[in-house]
Amino acid sequence: MTTDAETLKNHIEAALSRARRRTLDLTDLDDETIRRQVSPLMSPLVWDLAHVGNYEDQWLLRRIGPSARAARPELDDLYDAFRHPRSTRPGLPLLEGEAARTYLARVREEVLAELDAVEPEAFAGTERLLADGFVYGMVAQHEQQHVETMLATHQLMGDSAHPPPGAIDPAVIPSTPTDDTAVVEITGGSFSKGSVDHPWALDNELPPHTVETASFGIDRFPVTNRRYLEFMAEGGYDRPELWTPEGWDWRLEQGLEAPQFWCLEDGVARILRFGTRYEVDPAAPVQHVCWYEADAFARWRGGRLPTETEWERAALTDIGTRPGGSDPEATGANLGGRHFGPLALGALPSDDRGEGCRRTIGDVWEWTATPFHGYDGFEAFPYREYSEVFFDGRYRVLKGGSWATDPVAIRRSFRNWDFPVRRQIFSGFRCAYDLEPPSRHYRRGPRPSNR
Ligand code: AVJ
Ligand code: FE
Repeated sequence: MTTDAETLKNHIEAALSRARRRTLDLTDLDDETIRRQVSPLMSPLVWDLAHVGNYEDQWLLRRIGPSARAARPELDDLYDAFRHPRSTRPGLPLLEGEAARTYLARVREEVLAELDAVEPEAFAGTERLLADGFVYGMVAQHEQQHVETMLATHQLMGDSAHPPPGAIDPAVIPSTPTDDTAVVEITGGSFSKGSVDHPWALDNELPPHTVETASFGIDRFPVTNRRYLEFMAEGGYDRPELWTPEGWDWRLEQGLEAPQFWCLEDGVARILRFGTRYEVDPAAPVQHVCWYEADAFARWRGGRLPTETEWERAALTDIGTRPGGSDPEATGANLGGRHFGPLALGALPSDDRGEGCRRTIGDVWEWTATPFHGYDGFEAFPYREYSEVFFDGRYRVLKGGSWATDPVAIRRSFRNWDFPVRRQIFSGFRCAYDLEPPSRHYRRGPRPSNR
């Protein structure tokens, strides 16, 4: 075997087993708990568990390698996300925990045996599923996306939740005081958006294309709890002029007055995180806000949410993304569930080094102003239900990944999407500012304001 193919096979195996360790950790609970529907927004954990195995059965086991045999095709219907919306999944005759774990183990064992037998040339060939091991990368990313979904389910368990096994409490990580209002100025111009050469880029990241931005300002860091508390103290939730009409209706209907999982008692703001109440860390990025809250904050601040294009341009200035490649131990970003929340600004070495944006990758998914659509020339691959069926203008693009996202499932071009009302996801944001007049230099400094 050529060393290249060998290296790729090792990389694939590592990505698959990293995902599996997390999946099994998050479902290592009694049958009743994993069968429970914690929220109508989520599946029972045991549905996610068997679903990732069925996806691997469908995309790897029965398509790739010399044998290409399905393990359990009769399960395809039960674990088809489109046939059974999340709210109906508890009523299905789902596999119990042990049966699901046995299914996953059998599929994985056969997948790895088949991977061993894949001809090295196939990875260099023109068959798109196999080129550069794409379909393996797709399956690893899929499982990691469900890991993140399962983490949101755990968090929704409230007082009875536990932190993910092996993860470090973000609150114990030391940090140095850091200016959370720094603004980076980006000079207008063009750059290449989307994935230029990432072998495991998903269909919605393609094709890469040249785009232009005017000059703009953008927060160096995601908005912190300190800044968000200021917005709340200045009546952010009580001033309809700061909100879009839909956002204000939603805020009234739901009685929103703080991010999800916050408790405001006796003048103290606390966050219920994986079963424990913490005093809000002012230096950490705000998490669990919906698009409407992010949009209102940005207006209060005299700014706006960045477009996806601006976000991607700004992310080119970030040196703290992932110097260690896909090795979670070596990465500079807060990814992969190493910590079970966003880290305070000043906790990462790159925070205070050089100019440009920081924390674009990891910590919190960042809302953008942009509705989710395909790029010009988009082609669904390998199936329409990954992205194309969501191109209806009702979803907003989120960028950058969260503390929960595995390195395999995030890059500058990666596109996530959700409804503007959602906030059980690990979502935050940063603000953008129109610059007048445009300036040629990046700088840290006084914040733009129109107030
Ligand atoms: C890309 C996170 C929006 O979880 O709904 C999982 C990923 N697609 N299984 C989702 C996905 C199929 C998707 N998101
Ligand atoms: Fe899925």
